[in-house]
Amino acid sequence: MAAENSNHAGPDLTAGVALAELPDGGKLAGHVGEQAVLLVRRGSDVFAVDALCTHYHGPLVEGLVVGDTVRCPWHHACFDLRTGEALRAPALSPLACWAVEQREDRVFVRERRERPQRQPVESSGDTPARIVIVGGGAAGFAAAERLRREGYEGSVVMLSSEDAPPVDRPNLSKDYLAGAAPEEWVPLRPDGYYAENSIDLRLQAEVVHIDTQAREVGLADGSRLAYDRLLLATGAEPVRLPVPGADQPHVRSLRSLADCRAIIERASGARRAVVVGASFIGLEVAASLRARDVEVHVVAPEKRPMEHVLGTQIGDLVRSMHEQHGVIFHLEKTVRAIDGRRVLLDGGGTLEADLVVVGIGVKPRIELAEAAGARIDRGVLVNEYLETSIPGVFAAGDIARWPDPHTGEAIRVEHWVVAQRQGQTAAVNMLGRREKYAAIPFFWTQHYDVPINYVGHAAQWDQVVVEGDVAAKDCLLRFSRGGRTLAVASIFRDVDSLAAEVEMEQQAAMAPASRIPG
Ligand SMILES: Cc1cc2nc3c(=O)[nH]c(=O)nc-3n(C[C@H](O)[C@H](O)[C@H](O)COP(=O)(O)OP(=O)(O)OC[C@H]3O[C@@H](n4cnc5c(N)ncnc54)[C@H](O)[C@@H]3O)c2cc1C
Ligand code: FES
Repeated sequence: MAAENSNHAGPDLTAGVALAELPDGGKLAGHVGEQAVLLVRRGSDVFAVDALCTHYHGPLVEGLVVGDTVRCPWHHACFDLRTGEALRAPALSPLACWAVEQREDRVFVRERRERPQRQPVESSGDTPARIVIVGGGAAGFAAAERLRREGYEGSVVMLSSEDAPPVDRPNLSKDYLAGAAPEEWVPLRPDGYYAENSIDLRLQAEVVHIDTQAREVGLADGSRLAYDRLLLATGAEPVRLPVPGADQPHVRSLRSLADCRAIIERASGARRAVVVGASFIGLEVAASLRARDVEVHVVAPEKRPMEHVLGTQIGDLVRSMHEQHGVIFHLEKTVRAIDGRRVLLDGGGTLEADLVVVGIGVKPRIELAEAAGARIDRGVLVNEYLETSIPGVFAAGDIARWPDPHTGEAIRVEHWVVAQRQGQTAAVNMLGRREKYAAIPFFWTQHYDVPINYVGHAAQWDQVVVEGDVAAKDCLLRFSRGGRTLAVASIFRDVDSLAAEVEMEQQAAMAPASRIPG
């Protein structure tokens, strides 16, 4: 997955390149000493920035230039070409920028530019003194990070019921579980980051009550904490398998780093695993366990994996990729009971398993918000600024149902990038800005060496247009309803996927206000 931002590919940019080699909007990857550097031309301006994305080191030369920004081909992070700033998650760190000199008809890259010092946010009477974030996941972390990046100097407390600082959760079903990622890839930031940035991260700190009148949260240990603004980012929890025997120690689900470590421990001595559910997480777990040479059986009620999100063609492809790697499917079947090592299927049939991983979906953790009196509708309802119905209380991530300008519906999704971007938007709005959350949803999933990217949101569709060849893993599928493209899924068509995202953004920006749910 990751590569270092150092190599000698492409020309030595300190020796200069002809301006004619760079058409307007064009990109060129080269190097400055050991550093991979990207040149981008925008009219008469030429920018030089690090060539690899600060998320997982995606090659930005294969991305898309939009205005004065470049978007990463892999997971759609976006960087400002002038400042290197990471404008959109999943990248949270900036790119380094390099000085550029134009002499006659050549461009030379010179020294690396110093990053300007961040100015503290200007305080007004409305600037909150204390911001409390409930949740140490994607949205919670991104909010805390953005608050400090914005120069906010007030108190930031992050309360997390987990026992580990915020982790790269998507990795827990992929490289880390497969044994292909070292331990240091898992935390989103090194331990010292929180103290250095005055983020008061409290672990194993479970919030059990919100007093909206006193503006205080109550914790399970009986302590109370005052807030001026509160962000609820409590995420979701795995749905438990409602059958006898599902509470045994070798039956696991996967949400936290602790869950992941428990699965790895069990997998190391396991000959065979049963994965219950052909969901994204279930199948990523199946792939990772195959990488550990564990025999894997997948039991799921549907006819085809992922069909309800990705359609029949990609569903069939996903199934065949897993079968080629030795996964055995038991589709249109459910688990009736787990009796010791015996997994009993409905309608007969038994599978022996040393490890059972349950991936049958998640449910948003909305109890806290509900008890506090927030408006709820299959999630915590927020407005376009991500405010709940309770003054001073915001919500982001898996729990939030927001008015999506592209579909014209209030939607709730369970995607890493959406949670991070909502955390970022909530952060600036807690500081008193009025920034609408209008990003097009994006997620990715990875099966063996095949990534699937998805932009937009199509709960239902009446047409799928396939470009390319699904079986050859080179395709883009447009899901539309009533003639409108709602979502695009793609495999190894990254620029087209980015272009589809831009198109959806433009449509959303032009959506009549009446179509945006209030
Ligand atoms: C294994 C795995 C792989 C995934 N892979 C992908 C992927 O490839 N692509 C993708 O788009 N999405 C993926 N997802 C989904 C993605 O991780 C979630 O959508 C995202 O983490 C949601 O962010 P969040 O901040 O809302 O919730 P979370 O990240 O779950 O964070 C919620 C936090 O709130 C804390 N919390 C909950 N209640 C309380 C309380 N009462 N008091 C204090 N703290 C509390 C929790 O302990 C946790 O720290 C994956 C999820 C998992 C589990
Ligand atoms: S590698 Fe660039 S967004 Fe993930």
